[in-house]
Amino acid sequence: MAPSAIEVERPVDVSTTPSVKKILSDSRLTAAQIRPIYGDFRDDLVRDGYAVVKGAVPRERADDYGRAFYDFLESFDLGFDRNDPSTIKRAKLPVINEKGMVLDYAAPHENFVWQIRSEPGVVETFEKVHGTRDLIVSFDAINIGFHDRSDFPANKPWPHQDQDPAKPGFRCLQGLVNLQPCGPNDGGLIVCKGGHIISEEFHKDMADEPRIPAWTPEWYGFTDNGMKWLKDHGLEWIKVCAEPGDLILWDSRTPHYNVPTTSKQDRMAIYTCYMPVSEATQEDLIRKKRAFEERLGTTHWPNARHLGTNIAKRDGVECPYNRSRPSVEPELTERAFKLTGIPYIRA
Ligand SMILES: [Fe+2]
Repeated sequence: MAPSAIEVERPVDVSTTPSVKKILSDSRLTAAQIRPIYGDFRDDLVRDGYAVVKGAVPRERADDYGRAFYDFLESFDLGFDRNDPSTIKRAKLPVINEKGMVLDYAAPHENFVWQIRSEPGVVETFEKVHGTRDLIVSFDAINIGFHDRSDFPANKPWPHQDQDPAKPGFRCLQGLVNLQPCGPNDGGLIVCKGGHIISEEFHKDMADEPRIPAWTPEWYGFTDNGMKWLKDHGLEWIKVCAEPGDLILWDSRTPHYNVPTTSKQDRMAIYTCYMPVSEATQEDLIRKKRAFEERLGTTHWPNARHLGTNIAKRDGVECPYNRSRPSVEPELTERAFKLTGIPYIRA
């Protein structure tokens, strides 16, 4: 195949860039048999461990999805009104955790959430990275970070990577679709630029550091010592800025968390993570089918390693407003249905 114009314009000898060489060496990006210098978001992803894909969802539709998110919050009829900031109270909303996540109420299967997962610009981005159209998608939480958090517990930093240090190398690409303006003072994702590249070295050096308790080995929290290590190695934390409809991607090894807003702008994010179906077992797909049919959430792992319950706890007891079906049931396109993994289950 003839090289594209962009490749001719930007000849780069990756052998002279040890960091790029390393990330490429254990990255699926090389396996996609595409030239190592792409001229698109993949260059950022390889170099920085994160990337912003501008306009993955057209602005008009992103705004529609933002309105649908507020519709969902108002659908509980608990008194929340998007136009009245005085109604931003826990008692007037479904249970939202301190990080802004709505995990239950079948929220991961609301129609607008499935519409976002099915957006061509989003799906095609992951197809480019993974080099296949045969993908499955996570049924992850949705995130609302209100500008007024006075009635919510503090959102303290929880810097982490979503990958077991015992399983190094590139394994998972996470993503979120941003639905509100997200500037430097607005709430949202913060990442440790380049942290994916030195992840292995970090875990070798810090092997004796006591682990922050985690419910899964696929989560590693950075202690104060760990944060110092990153700083001492010259790494910087970057607040990722984006416009409605932009897709933010990050390598699971890249340290990250989210910060609350200091502006008057709500933050909204829909997590979107896809992996090749070839990486899931038939057992995974059968479990995932159950999650879809029962409208349960998963984590960001598309192989449905862990399933949610739709039993939210409000102040320690079952929320009386729990629901097991979305306020608007999803209508899946054929492409979206494939992303559930169900068509890949062998009879
Ligand atoms: Fe995470």
